[in-house]
Amino acid sequence: MTERDVPKFTEAYHIRQWETCYESTRCFFDFLEREGAMERHREDRILDLCCGSGANLFWLKKRHPKLGLVGVDIVPELVEFGNKAFHERGMSGVELATGDVYALGKERFGSVDGVIAIQAVSWLPDEVGFLDTATSLDADWIALTGLMMPGSRTFRTLINDHNDPDHGGNYYNTFSIDYLKSLLSARRYSEITTEPFHIGVDLAKPDEGSLGTYTETTKDNRRLQISGALLMNWHFMLARRKRE
Ligand SMILES: C[S@@+](CC[C@H](N)C(=O)[O-])C[C@H]1O[C@@H](n2cnc3c(N)ncnc32)[C@H](O)[C@@H]1O
Repeated sequence: MTERDVPKFTEAYHIRQWETCYESTRCFFDFLEREGAMERHREDRILDLCCGSGANLFWLKKRHPKLGLVGVDIVPELVEFGNKAFHERGMSGVELATGDVYALGKERFGSVDGVIAIQAVSWLPDEVGFLDTATSLDADWIALTGLMMPGSRTFRTLINDHNDPDHGGNYYNTFSIDYLKSLLSARRYSEITTEPFHIGVDLAKPDEGSLGTYTETTKDNRRLQISGALLMNWHFMLARRKRE
């Protein structure tokens, strides 16, 4: 990993999530509950890979107070911000740590029941290394949100901002669902469910040239979510480990 490979998001993006739980995050938790991965009375331990500032864990803990939550992110400022925010809100049983998802030892986080990675896989330079780590943690299940398409084709996107030439760019990869399934199945996570996520609210178009996501409504009243030149094909994926 080089400095250039770490995607950067504005501070405002991370702070906004502490103020409101994003609809996509809420629907992802609904999906995990419907699929039986998370239940309110359980005391499972869940690890959030690429957790950002930990806001998703804040909303998850509010919803499932008994869960033990750990998050890991490569940016120390986000980890510091998140731990301070948990402390200020008097929330215990949730903690963030700094770490590179491509170099996490299994022993570092002890026993983990579930792994979540919200808005991570599509934004990383190497999905194989990422899934190697996620599957090496021996959790019962791994749940992802990201940009995915039915069928056999992966669309790889690297966004370069020419006003910021020192930054290597941000990945916005749209993965073939079959491809991700084959990677997970080859690593023993072969019971896989996917669900498309359709945004339920209108998002205003940002200034010309920005990457902020916004929606356009089609004639038949479907909302398309757009970011710069990209259509955001959001999906949720839950992969359970095959029992021996
Ligand atoms: C799109 S953000 C998503 C953050 C958070 N999951 C959320 O939903 O708000 C991607 C996150 O991945 C983190 N990240 C990028 N490369 C990483 C790596 N190699 N190891 C750990 N975290 C990484 C970034 O710092 C960033 O916080």
